[in-house]
Amino acid sequence: MKKTMSILAGLAALALVSSPAIASDMPDGAKLFKKKCKMCHAINKKKVGPMVASMNTDSEVLKTTITNGRKRMPKFGHKLSEAEIDAIVAFIQENQSQPAE
Ligand code: HEC
Repeated sequence: MKKTMSILAGLAALALVSSPAIASDMPDGAKLFKKKCKMCHAINKKKVGPMVASMNTDSEVLKTTITNGRKRMPKFGHKLSEAEIDAIVAFIQENQSQPAE
C-alpha cells in the first residue's frame, strides 16, 4: 500500500511538471484571448463585440464581464480559472494603451 501511494505521488508530480499550463507561473493572456475571445473581439476593430481598444478599462468590470457574460457575450467563469481571467484582463489593458492602427 505504501509503495502504491509513493508511485501515485510520483506520477502526480510528473503530470504537474509535464503540463505547460500548470508549469508556467502566469497563464498566457494573449494566447487565451486568441483562443477564446478573438472570434468576437479584435484589438482595433469592432466585430461581434466591442474592440479591445474601446473596452472598459476597469479591472473589476472586465473581470465581471468575462466571468458572468453580458447580453450576447458568453460567460467564461466555468471555463477559465481566475488566474486565466486575470491574465486576459492584463492583456486587454495592455492593448488599450496602444494607439489605433
Ligand atoms: C460570441 C461572441 C463573444 C465571445 C466569444 C466573447 N465576447 Fe466579449 N462581448 C461580446 C459582445 C456581443 C459584447 C457586448 C455585450 C453588451 O452588449 O453589453 C461583449 C462585451 C465584452 C466586454 C465588455 C466591454 C466593456 O466595455 O464593458 C468585455 C470586457 C469582453 N466582452 C471581453 C471578452 C473576453 C475577454 C472574451 C474571451 C474570454 C470574450 N469577450 C469573448 C461577444 C463575445
